[in-house]
Amino acid sequence: MKAFDFYPTARVVFGEGTLAQLGKLSEELDGSRILFVTDPGIVSAGLADRAIAVLQRASLDFFVFDSVGENPTTAHIAAGVAFAKARGNIDLIVGMGGGSAMDCAKGINFILTNNGQMEDYWGMGRATKPMLPSIGIPTTAGTGSEAQSYALISDAKTHVKMACGDLKARFRSVILDPSLTESVPENVAAAAGIDAIAHAIESYVCTRRNAVSMMFAQKAWQLLSSSFESVLKDASDNEARSKMLLGAHFAGAAIENAMLGAAHACANPLTAHFGITHGVAVARGN
Ligand SMILES: [Fe+2]
Repeated sequence: MKAFDFYPTARVVFGEGTLAQLGKLSEELDGSRILFVTDPGIVSAGLADRAIAVLQRASLDFFVFDSVGENPTTAHIAAGVAFAKARGNIDLIVGMGGGSAMDCAKGINFILTNNGQMEDYWGMGRATKPMLPSIGIPTTAGTGSEAQSYALISDAKTHVKMACGDLKARFRSVILDPSLTESVPENVAAAAGIDAIAHAIESYVCTRRNAVSMMFAQKAWQLLSSSFESVLKDASDNEARSKMLLGAHFAGAAIENAMLGAAHACANPLTAHFGITHGVAVARGN
């Protein structure tokens, strides 16, 4: 059998309404001055306000950085770091949104705590100093970034996508609240769902697959394949949305413990050079 090093470090809280636990989870990580990283779409959908209301009820200080774009670049990271430094003494980072917002939160964490440039952390385990604890809150069932220690950040000038990973960058707590995915537009849910399904399949057949990654991939496939059509037909189907969100998370965990394959290898250049949405590019890669 193939050797593996399974190193789970995240607390995962799953269920309808679990966003209400954000204050408690922040306090448990000793967060009192929180950098809240999200994107404008999450703000206009009212989801950021729901999270902020929870932080306000817990009387925690927070600062909202919402200048995250699709496929975050080194420019987004630099803007986030400058924003955080101007507020001072940030002790917890919350990333809420799709993969872009969560990856941006991880990227900011690298530079805020370890200085330098994103390319200094291209690869695995290059951050030498401690990083801030962080909480990931996905609002689409797709990337599974909340289960991963990598942030995918593009160079703002060359568009080269850098996978910067470190176990310290992984979210310490994850909130999987299916109520957050109800307002996702159908085309976004479709692209994100295809992405998650591809994660399950590719990680299951890639050469680095092992007993742990295959366990996650198998369960992810079971959850995703049984609910994908239902969730697109009826976004108010709570059971189907719950299965998609958990399935995408497990697929992300499968990648974390293995790797991806051909569809993503074909898709990533389409996104890097032509700006095609990741899930759409993956669907074409399939
Ligand atoms: Fe993907």
